[in-house]
Amino acid sequence: MTTGWLDDTAVLVTGGGSGIGRAVVDRFVEEGASVGVLDVESERLAAIDDAHGARVETVEGDVTTLSDNERAVTRTVEAFGGLDVFVGNAGRFDGNVTLPELSDVESEFHHLFDVNVLGYILGAKAALPELLETNGRMVFTASGASFDPDGGGVLYVPSKHAVAGLIRQLAFELAPAISVNGVAPGYVPTNLSTVGSIDRSDTGSEDGFDPSVHPLDIVPQPADYTGTYVLLASEDDSRPMTGTIITADLGRSVRGIGDVAGRALEYITDDLEEME
Ligand SMILES: NC(=O)c1ccc[n+]([C@@H]2O[C@H](COP(=O)([O-])OP(=O)(O)OC[C@H]3O[C@@H](n4cnc5c(N)ncnc54)[C@H](O)[C@@H]3O)[C@@H](O)[C@H]2O)c1
Repeated sequence: MTTGWLDDTAVLVTGGGSGIGRAVVDRFVEEGASVGVLDVESERLAAIDDAHGARVETVEGDVTTLSDNERAVTRTVEAFGGLDVFVGNAGRFDGNVTLPELSDVESEFHHLFDVNVLGYILGAKAALPELLETNGRMVFTASGASFDPDGGGVLYVPSKHAVAGLIRQLAFELAPAISVNGVAPGYVPTNLSTVGSIDRSDTGSEDGFDPSVHPLDIVPQPADYTGTYVLLASEDDSRPMTGTIITADLGRSVRGIGDVAGRALEYITDDLEEME
């Protein structure tokens, strides 16, 4: 059942080619929106064109450059007559890398922060003039790692904490003209890829899901998260909200610390032993 909350709404989604972003694109189209999609992967964009035709405007580009973000905004506005909502979502993972495991620290830091933090700032900057015209909304994909450790490694967790700060700062700066909110998913099985020399295949699959730390007994799918994005993208239904980050983490954050401290100590000890 659809809500119709996004009828006549023009949206731009970054990283819409896969995972959460793709599920958001599909759901937004179902809900009546027209959607621009910026992604680096052309095959994923072609699949979206095949699925949604004229309801989408796909743009191949990299969120880490201002010019690609501006091009995506321009193409979305040309196609749909304006921009009501910017969804910053493209991100990369660090494979839960620990400090001792980090090899090329400077380049891996810059690569991950460029996508996860700079990419959101550049997207917001590029979308700002059009969102001021429509009194629009920004929605960012944060993470459980925006608040707590152990939802990623020594690069990903700080990058997602920065996203929480960005949401709150932009909400403060841009009120009352534009509202700025976020969604903080916990675990989602996707293709979420790692950066640089960090190459780990233990993330993103259903095999990587540990039910013992998630009170809700489900393996979620990307589509399960899209309702929160619909709410925050809706002009009427998100009216009192800005600076809000909706947590959707299968109850992980209410579980208590349990054996987490022991687990953290165990894996850092293993890594240090491997270095010896
Ligand atoms: N998968 C999870 O468990 C999880 C949990 C919490 C938050 N998140 C966040 O959700 C967001 C989406 O991740 P996902 O899990 O759907 O991963 P995904 O890899 O399935 O999707 C990310 C998309 O972003 C695109 N992308 C990557 N770098 C890009 C760049 N430089 N420019 C343009 N596009 C780029 C990829 O091509 C891909 O289509 C990320 O911000 C991630 O941090 C994921």
